[in-house]
Amino acid sequence: MNALVIARTIADLRAHVAAWKQAGERVALVPTMGALHAGHIALTQHARAHSKAQRVIVSIFVNPTQFAPHEDFSKYPRTFEADVEKLTAAGVDLVYAPTAEQMYPQGFATTIALNGPALADLEDRFRPTHFAGVATIVAKLFTQAMPDVAIFGQKDYQQLAVIARMTRDLDLPVQVIGMETVRESDGLALSSRNVYLSAEHRALAPVLHTTMQACTQRIAAGEAFESVLDAGRSAITKAGFALDYLELRDADNLGAADSAQKLRLLVAARIGATRLIDNIDVPLPRRA
Ligand code: PAF
Repeated sequence: MNALVIARTIADLRAHVAAWKQAGERVALVPTMGALHAGHIALTQHARAHSKAQRVIVSIFVNPTQFAPHEDFSKYPRTFEADVEKLTAAGVDLVYAPTAEQMYPQGFATTIALNGPALADLEDRFRPTHFAGVATIVAKLFTQAMPDVAIFGQKDYQQLAVIARMTRDLDLPVQVIGMETVRESDGLALSSRNVYLSAEHRALAPVLHTTMQACTQRIAAGEAFESVLDAGRSAITKAGFALDYLELRDADNLGAADSAQKLRLLVAARIGATRLIDNIDVPLPRRA
């Protein structure tokens, strides 16, 4: 196994990537904000197994511009040493952990303006500045690391759609891959924010996934979308969540579900002070 390298600067990152590319190696990037869990490790394994990358970079940067002032930037879990241990065990080649000054030097003044899936009236309704921050940092990570492939979790489904669209629209030479969400045995999607849940709220949290599964079965059986969604919304609210949305959308562009060829069900809800999001694939309704 190669020793894990920690790069703190763009120059150091690029020197390693250049040497690998010179040797004809395929490079994968897994962008993260740290607080790594088994879902992140699965992304690094996917990078090697399915994306055939000989070299895997994990970036760790808690990106301030994707947090609104009232959000959890300052208390977002930071576990760098434990993260590095996990990535060493996972056989990752390089951790790119730039400082805020590297990413946002004095006078930084450029942001990517988004349309399409970034304005789908889902996360953007509750976090209006979030995706501009995500897209800008991911574009920077792509141009800094110049990976052949980048792997993202489908748990942040709208984020994945925004990044895929941005990459295509800006002709960034990176293949963007979305990987299936990793779940606890009771269905809760793995998330760095799950550490915020009290024991009581942790016990309730799988309601989001079980409700989405129940909705999926009814939709696939041909029931009307809106009545299924209404039932799902009240199940989530009755369980004690403050629901932000439960929506069925076109899986490709997050537009209306009515004439979609592929469907996706997406949810966001708050329990106590923690906001959880999740989504699942929904088979097209059986035709009568
Ligand atoms: O999904 C995340 O952890 C972040 O939004 C990302 C893609 C690393 C950008 O900061």
